[in-house]
Amino acid sequence: MNRALIIGAGGVGRVTAFKAAQRPDVFHELTLASRTKSKCDVIAADIKKSLGRNVRTEAVDADKVPELVALIRDVKPDLVLNLALPYQDLTIMDACLETGVHYLDTANYEHPDTAKFCYGPQWEYHDRFEKAGLLALLGSGFDPGMTNVYVAYARKHHFDRMDTVDIIDCNAGDHGYPFATNFNPEINIREVSAKGRYFENGNWIETEPLSVKKVFDFPDGIGPKDMYLLYHEEMESLVKHYPEVKRMRFWMTFGQSYLTHLKVLENVGMTRIDPVMFEGREIIPLQFLKALLPDPGSLGPRTKGKTCIGCWITGEKDAKERTYYVYNVCVHEECYAEVGSQAISYTTGVPAALGAKMILSGQWSGKGVFNMEQFDPDPFMQEIGDWGLPWIETFPSTKDF
Ligand SMILES: NC(=O)c1ccc[n+]([C@@H]2O[C@H](COP(=O)([O-])OP(=O)(O)OC[C@H]3O[C@@H](n4cnc5c(N)ncnc54)[C@H](OP(=O)(O)O)[C@@H]3O)[C@@H](O)[C@H]2O)c1
Repeated sequence: MNRALIIGAGGVGRVTAFKAAQRPDVFHELTLASRTKSKCDVIAADIKKSLGRNVRTEAVDADKVPELVALIRDVKPDLVLNLALPYQDLTIMDACLETGVHYLDTANYEHPDTAKFCYGPQWEYHDRFEKAGLLALLGSGFDPGMTNVYVAYARKHHFDRMDTVDIIDCNAGDHGYPFATNFNPEINIREVSAKGRYFENGNWIETEPLSVKKVFDFPDGIGPKDMYLLYHEEMESLVKHYPEVKRMRFWMTFGQSYLTHLKVLENVGMTRIDPVMFEGREIIPLQFLKALLPDPGSLGPRTKGKTCIGCWITGEKDAKERTYYVYNVCVHEECYAEVGSQAISYTTGVPAALGAKMILSGQWSGKGVFNMEQFDPDPFMQEIGDWGLPWIETFPSTKDF
């Protein structure tokens, strides 16, 4: 009997709850808990309507370890899927250690006051999870997540040595708003407005935010799009686990309207994450901005178009140079029709559900804290298409894109 407890009833939590509910052979009992129980109830009602399955719902403040421990003791899950926000990673890991339950998330821990994008605080839990005989799987979304598995799969099957890895993330979808973020605005804007960073010959090289641009001709009818160099957390674990890689970069596409709005918001101070006094009380401008922006969960019915996320890898196989491009294309409208969320939540929620399956089925096992690329990529790659994210691999004739 496998029991899973999902924490977080946002866009991603919704997708994972649906995907888990679609697989009663793996997820025998499901509980969805979040800060606002009514959001869990809406998702549970939608799942009941479309799949006929019951999902238990609970309220929990995941910032509070004792509340989490009480909930976990009551639900008795085999695995906790943390799909709340990165701020809750450590409290949920603490609660898992206290109750003896495996852990999974999709984003590295962040402190609310400073954006760091690093795995250090979670890697520090390795010995404690190892000692407790528990597994913590970090970053089981798309990027991080699927992209880490793509790199592991490429190294296992297509390269004797990888020289460069470029992770390329395109959202060619349109929600019709002049400015909205596709996932949690606070996390998204923190990520995009931070300095860029890439890895080259053993060093991290910093760039000004959104200052390095390239055009990539995306497949499947998407066509050429501007993309910008960002820092992204999966590079930290990938350069650690593949020290042979000489250069690693991460790219994301942005439309001109998004960039113009972001620049103005930055210039007027609305993206600040330090407290400012307003009418006698402290507010965090970025949190206030979040309250004004469309809820990412509401973008589903409006978003049309495709996403395309993949890895462009160069290196050597059988003493010959090789370029390999592996990617997934997802259609926003199809995701919405299936689970009621747009493709950004879908591409994150599906690998979270499959990562959970890998743990619950014992296909991936271990004691300690692990990133996705540390496990055998084959079972994940074999199944992810059936779970909703098929992949395509090509061998381009040029190194550069
Ligand atoms: N790896 C990837 O590819 C990838 C991509 C996108 C997103 N992500 C990550 O996925 C996670 C979820 O993103 P999302 O877009 O679903 O965010 P979201 O729509 O903002 O949902 C977050 C959910 O967490 C709940 N929550 C927040 N604080 C909580 C607390 N203290 N206790 C209990 N619940 C709490 C929220 O509750 P309320 O509704 O009450 O606020 C909400 O239901 C984030 O960590 C994000 O960084 C990963």
